[in-house]
Amino acid sequence: MQVVTQAQAVQQQALAWRAAGDDVGLVPTMGALHAGHESLVRRARRENRRVVASIFVNPLQFSPGEDLARYPRPIQRDLEVLEGLGVDAVFQPELDQIYPASFRTHVDPGPWGEVLEGRSRPGHFRGVLTVVLKLLELARPSRAYFGQKDAQQLLLVRQLVRDFCLPVRIVSCPTVREPDGLALSSRNAYLDPARRSSAPALYGALRQAAQAYRDGRKDPAALERLAVEALSGRPELELDYVALFDEATLERPAEAGPGNVLAGAVKLGGIRLIDNVILGAEVL
Ligand code: PAF
Repeated sequence: MQVVTQAQAVQQQALAWRAAGDDVGLVPTMGALHAGHESLVRRARRENRRVVASIFVNPLQFSPGEDLARYPRPIQRDLEVLEGLGVDAVFQPELDQIYPASFRTHVDPGPWGEVLEGRSRPGHFRGVLTVVLKLLELARPSRAYFGQKDAQQLLLVRQLVRDFCLPVRIVSCPTVREPDGLALSSRNAYLDPARRSSAPALYGALRQAAQAYRDGRKDPAALERLAVEALSGRPELELDYVALFDEATLERPAEAGPGNVLAGAVKLGGIRLIDNVILGAEVL
């Protein structure tokens, strides 16, 4: 496995692979890898001749007061995991390889970047799309892999690819969960035992609403309310939003249907948790 730190070097390698006819799968990460990331890498490994994983804690996507400085960076362990999964190259740039002093241009995500996660995390999606565009340009993948857990990110990345005619297929991969339902996230490491035991309640509430949908309730506002009510018995979870939206347009449909996303965000002792379920698809 090559560990590449220079932007130009990773681009040259990717272009050489593509010129030789090899397809390339990119798994962009911020490191602190867990089984969710591993499932993205495994899928990329199955579907591509070459696999590149990037590890870059992107400061642009952290809002002021967020956890940029303390974001976990277990780099040696991450490299061992990626080596074990048969990754061909890890792109692990320093800050100046992505944002040199001369860097000026940013991707404006438009109105979809201002709602839900974007409302609570100003500038977050501008940072995400800027770094994703850069990583796509550098690693020149045929396919890039993203987790369904970050449903709004996924939707915005798909839009970025459409808007800029980028020759890459975006592949979404199912959320990986702990046995008690908690969606895996690098930030779960911040939860102390008491908060950790409360954390699956977000998924529990979304699941309850998804079950009601299966039982025939189709009113989006009523389904959202159900999840909010389920959370109201857990005062330690500070609700940010529960929203049901169309998976392609981020709009609330007139009637809930299969494939729609029911997403939620809470704060638990200052730690932000997000999760979502896809209506009609979730194993309940
Ligand atoms: O989902 C993430 O880990 C990040 O937002 C990403 C896509 C690697 C961009 O920094």
